[in-house]
Amino acid sequence: MVMAVILLIALALVLCCYCAINRQKINAIYLKPLLKKTRQLTNNTANDNADVNGNANANDCYHATPIQGRQRRTIWDIPGPQRIPFLGTKWIFLVFFRRYKMTKLHEVYADLNRQYGDIVLEVMPSNVPIVHLYNRDDLERVLKYPSKYPFRPPTEIIVMYRQSRPDRYASLGIVNEQGPTWQKLRSSLTSSITSPRILQNFLPALNAVCDDFIELLRARRDPQSQAVHNFEELANLMGLEAVCTLMLGRRMGFLAPNTKQPHKISQLAAAVKQLFISQRDSYYGLGLWKYFPTKTYRDFARAEDLIYDIISEIIDNELEQHKNTAACEDEDAAGLRSVFLNILELKDLDIRDKKSAIIDFIAAGIETLANTLLFVLSSVTSEPQAKLRILDEFCEYRHTNILQDALTNATYTKACIQESYRLRPTAFCLARILEEDMELSGYSLNAGTVVLCQNMIACHKDRNFHEAKQFSPERWIDASGNFTVNVDSASIVVPFGVGRRTCPGKRFVEMEVVLLLAKLVLAFDVDFVEPLQTEFEFLLAPKTPLSLVLRDRTF
Ligand code: HEM
Repeated sequence: MVMAVILLIALALVLCCYCAINRQKINAIYLKPLLKKTRQLTNNTANDNADVNGNANANDCYHATPIQGRQRRTIWDIPGPQRIPFLGTKWIFLVFFRRYKMTKLHEVYADLNRQYGDIVLEVMPSNVPIVHLYNRDDLERVLKYPSKYPFRPPTEIIVMYRQSRPDRYASLGIVNEQGPTWQKLRSSLTSSITSPRILQNFLPALNAVCDDFIELLRARRDPQSQAVHNFEELANLMGLEAVCTLMLGRRMGFLAPNTKQPHKISQLAAAVKQLFISQRDSYYGLGLWKYFPTKTYRDFARAEDLIYDIISEIIDNELEQHKNTAACEDEDAAGLRSVFLNILELKDLDIRDKKSAIIDFIAAGIETLANTLLFVLSSVTSEPQAKLRILDEFCEYRHTNILQDALTNATYTKACIQESYRLRPTAFCLARILEEDMELSGYSLNAGTVVLCQNMIACHKDRNFHEAKQFSPERWIDASGNFTVNVDSASIVVPFGVGRRTCPGKRFVEMEVVLLLAKLVLAFDVDFVEPLQTEFEFLLAPKTPLSLVLRDRTF
């Protein structure tokens, strides 16, 4: 045991030296140049810098500008875990120290907030500082910044992988691109999935997808216990079928109860989950994947390849079929296919960008939907009255499609979903790169600083919401009985992000989640076998496998 520890320490020292020698390479990676570019873009010329130990360092682009007449409190003065050379503050996540676990990072962030206060400094092994913000005023200032091209730090592992595959990717894609390139992709590729008209026309198809999901659950239910085991796998299929129907304009049949799922489809759901886990490990580990093809990098590349291959095959089949049937397609079918066709017909865009956008949109709608649905269900089933009130709002639609009016008038159902977003959003914090110097919680930060807005943790504070830890949908219902987001602190409940980089899938998902919840509550009396626990997989995710009891409702 002692030998093993000594060997581990020796190995760590060798790796540290290797990384130190490769400092050039560290600086060549995407993030630092991007931070410098952000600074140049905002014309910031502050060069009064200091390194992690407070020594002067003219190349340090993170250091704060002095504030006239006052003791300067810079980024390096922000409290946080002890920083050590080559590891920064990463040591707190090392299994060796057993203090925190990677799967509980959301709890780590809450703990750091308890220990150090409303602003906390984390330092990456490459010495990049990351500032965690918990204070409502700070969150509002950063997230409401009126930016033309809001900068969200890219996920470096995706950047490195996509840059290594120019045969497949012409750009980094909407999620990771920045500046004018991002704006071009965003404005051309997302207009149809955000169009209220297209989404309204899609509602009958989405009803059919949800109905098939209910039938699939019935078919997979244990006849004795009425329990559906591995519910999350079926929820993933639901997300996949719905987003494919939207993006490709054709039902894919992933929810058919009596056919065994093609192996590829279960592989696809697993690969999407792996993608998030690998992003987490690449972000929060020591970053050795930048220098060697570590397991993290190999797992990521395998998942990314698999997702690309499978969805790409679906798209190619669709393109082939479209060629053959376009001429005789009726108006309804053509309407359903408008997102797919709009994207394919875009001018001035590389076909690789069109294809990778469709792939990214489909991948974005699987795990996120399943997690959100499970969090909402867990909240709603914890309150017997909540299920009954949702039932009441949709009772008259038990034999018909639920259309836009019903969704608009579902005050209590929407309040339950909003409250679930407040308590457990699957994207629980938002990242940004500051575009101008800002003073946050008394520390002056330069443009170019990476900040993580810890919205979920702020939403759990009594100073922002009365009895903040309680599930209380009523807080989203006004005196006239209408659903409202016009309540104090609502600006920090941002499950789909804010501003120009807000999630383009938001409208679609909002429709999908209300519909699914309504259909599930109409069909079943739903209960969890065990209380739901959460894990950090880059997204906030339920700990799986999960079993849900679904008793048929009789009216
Ligand atoms: C429950 C489901 C979903 C949740 C909770 C969610 C949440 C988010 C969040 C928080 C962001 C970051 C926003 C920001 O930085 O301000 C985001 C970005 C994004 N989402 Fe979603 N999303 C979901 C589903 C979807 C779906 C179905 C699609 C595609 C149809 C999608 C496509 C995207 C894209 C492309 C971006 C990057 C936008 C940009 O940087 O301009 N998401 N999402």
